[in-house]
Amino acid sequence: MKRIEAILEHQEMLCVEAAAGPCAFVVFGASGDLAHRKLYAGLYELFRRDLMSRRFYSLGCGRTEFSDEAFRDKVRQSLNETLDNPDGEMLETFLKHLYYTAGDYSDKGLYERLCAKMKELDAAYDVEGARIFYLSVPPVLYGEIADKLGALKLNCPAATGRFEQVRLVVEKPFGRDLDSAKELDRLLGRHFQESQIYRIDHYLGKETVQNLLIFRFANSLFEPVWNRNYIDHIQITIAETLGVEHRANYYDKSGALRDMFQNHILQMLALVAMEPPVSFEADRVRDEKVKLLRGLRPLTPEDAESSFIRGQYGPGQVDGKAVRGYLEEEGVAADSATETYVAAKLYVDNWRWKGVPFYLRTGKRLARRLTEIAITFRHVPHSMFMTAGLEDMPPNVLRFQIQPEEGMYLSLQAKRPGSKLCMSTLEMTVDYQQVFGVKMPEAYQRLLLDAMLGDQTLFDRHDSILTSWEYLMPVLDSWQSEGGRPIVYPAGSSGPSQSETLLHSDGRLWDKL
Ligand code: BG6
Repeated sequence: MKRIEAILEHQEMLCVEAAAGPCAFVVFGASGDLAHRKLYAGLYELFRRDLMSRRFYSLGCGRTEFSDEAFRDKVRQSLNETLDNPDGEMLETFLKHLYYTAGDYSDKGLYERLCAKMKELDAAYDVEGARIFYLSVPPVLYGEIADKLGALKLNCPAATGRFEQVRLVVEKPFGRDLDSAKELDRLLGRHFQESQIYRIDHYLGKETVQNLLIFRFANSLFEPVWNRNYIDHIQITIAETLGVEHRANYYDKSGALRDMFQNHILQMLALVAMEPPVSFEADRVRDEKVKLLRGLRPLTPEDAESSFIRGQYGPGQVDGKAVRGYLEEEGVAADSATETYVAAKLYVDNWRWKGVPFYLRTGKRLARRLTEIAITFRHVPHSMFMTAGLEDMPPNVLRFQIQPEEGMYLSLQAKRPGSKLCMSTLEMTVDYQQVFGVKMPEAYQRLLLDAMLGDQTLFDRHDSILTSWEYLMPVLDSWQSEGGRPIVYPAGSSGPSQSETLLHSDGRLWDKL
């Protein structure tokens, strides 16, 4: 393994980045949209940045027929559309490492052809047994693909006999409820060990989400106040302006709770609230995350109804343009009760967080795109300034903005120059792009590299997935049994007004979208 280490003195940074060794990267669902926009773009960037060995090949599998050449043409076209000015020569060199095999995922013949082609390419690229199977296909196919790979013993390289050299990467959502997630674990577990399974949650690959760990555990300033004694409440928002786009087929059976809340939102919550791990090692970090999720106060059926608000976007205006409502979107059932918005209030019953509310929300077709974690500290206990009451001194708020721009913001009270007592709120800002002068790498790059390096820190472990499903089951059960419908909100708004009551009843407000 090659290590690249650099200390940039003028910026006092310590960067450690490892480059991946030789590897076979097999993509199921290679002709799909995600593969083209994210996977091949991510692989190309790693290749270009020299973070991948040249002893690498990628073998795509899909139902559509392509020759190797035609497949490379398709990837060339999508990378030219996705990336800003890819280097032509580099791109051509990269494309030569791509191959393709077509077939039906349930047909044994596909796997036999795959196996034969891998044997040939493994030798040509001398990958030393390292392989990744990336399943960019609907989760119903995961079990079958894992079985077929297992039957041909592709889950372990014959030459080395080391299972850990073979990794299976699967996309979220992992299951659609507790039972299906357990079943999926059981199916994958027949041929792959937990240490071989990489469950992707692309939010964990985002720079500012990873920064939470550095921010919390590489500074001594904040950890002492990171608890119920100093923090009033925490808000986590993932707001999108996009609608369901071309994904109704998947989304209408899923909804915001399964698509965003069970994974992205709860994982961010775990990172912001977990205890300090003893080391930055995959299982030490994941132990703490799961411990935190286990501390979520269990929901009674009444809580599930009163603390979780679901909405569905109706027609409206986004960025000045009229847009359709969810029910008019192509592929959505005319009477669909699928939620495109969820807001919730929840508590973590542990020593650190007892009594601190966490307000979480995510939705499509909202007023603006914003992903943010906002930590609101308590008011000062007493105002010593005669003319200013406590209400004149807004509490400090620390924000981690993840999208659209990455940054950190801390609001503080300060004296304005001039008159003797004139206070105003100012904001200390760290704009990532400006400070580091680089474009933020795509989350997939980080995660693909980590999968190649065998580092599971940023991937979900089975117990954290099961714990989050277990927590959400009362909500899923209540929504299913009550037969009610989500509250309609106009596209381009801040979501259903009822979600405001979650905070109003506590005397608080959502951050403005
Ligand atoms: C995906 C969801 O996991 O995340 C999509 O399936 C959502 O519905 C997307 O649009 C949002 O990701 P990002 O990185 O654009 O915030």
